[in-house]
Amino acid sequence: MIETINLNRKFGSFTAVDNLNLKIDKAEIFGFLGANGAGKTTTLRMLCGLLTPTSGTITVNGLNVVKNPEAVKRSLGYMSQKFSLYGDLRGIENLQFYTGIYGISWTAAKTNIKSLISQFDLDKYLKLKTSELPMGYKQRLSLVCALVHNPPLVFLDEPTSGVDPKARREFWQVINELAYRGKTVIVSTHFMDEAEYCNRVLIMQAGREEVCGNPLQLKQSHRVATMQQLFLKIAGADNAQS
Ligand SMILES: Nc1ncnc2c1ncn2[C@@H]1O[C@H](COP(=O)(O)OP(=O)(O)O)[C@@H](O)[C@H]1O
Ligand SMILES: [Mg+2]
Repeated sequence: MIETINLNRKFGSFTAVDNLNLKIDKAEIFGFLGANGAGKTTTLRMLCGLLTPTSGTITVNGLNVVKNPEAVKRSLGYMSQKFSLYGDLRGIENLQFYTGIYGISWTAAKTNIKSLISQFDLDKYLKLKTSELPMGYKQRLSLVCALVHNPPLVFLDEPTSGVDPKARREFWQVINELAYRGKTVIVSTHFMDEAEYCNRVLIMQAGREEVCGNPLQLKQSHRVATMQQLFLKIAGADNAQS
């Protein structure tokens, strides 16, 4: 579904993403894990065609992202790190707005949106002003906004930051359901424990891939009990080198 070859992004002389080689399969939940500044958002934005790589290639669904940005954008949904909802609009109005942004008519999108609303339990919140919604429901509304055009691929940039632990767990159930229904989900997080919800994770540090694989297998091969321990082990090894 997604492949990158030697993907790089520099800002001036600073390297934010350093030579990433990825292969992400259909209906996979693929997690980018790393501390603030690791390069997660920069990577996601390049995969979505929102930011041009300095070098390297990205293929999404067989299409070169740099050469076909518009076609690629139509095939994906993107939920940005700061949920970009309009606080003054009601939930339903935000959905109408995003349907326009993704370039489809409300009539065409309505059936899909209605089923998402009931799937994510949003019915009773849609008439409220978005700024008045509990955080967990703002997060779900943002997700539905990214799915109005029913894309096969969805990118979620730190969807669980600023959300309480219960809403975080519930949100991961929602993500699971999306993958179960065949969507490919690319998600970033700085919570190491959330790795357990992913089929595969890539731990990033200073723009580089540190490890990539299935969380259970990674823990076994590195002889650690938790992803947190694995992360500390990796960070420790890096500090010892420098
Ligand atoms: N537009 C930009 N201009 C300059 N530096 C940037 C820009 N965007 C990101 N960076 C830098 O790139 C690094 C990676 O940032 P980012 O991808 O946002 O990390 P993460 O999402 O993992 O927190 C950071 O050091 C950040 O300051
Ligand atoms: Mg980020």
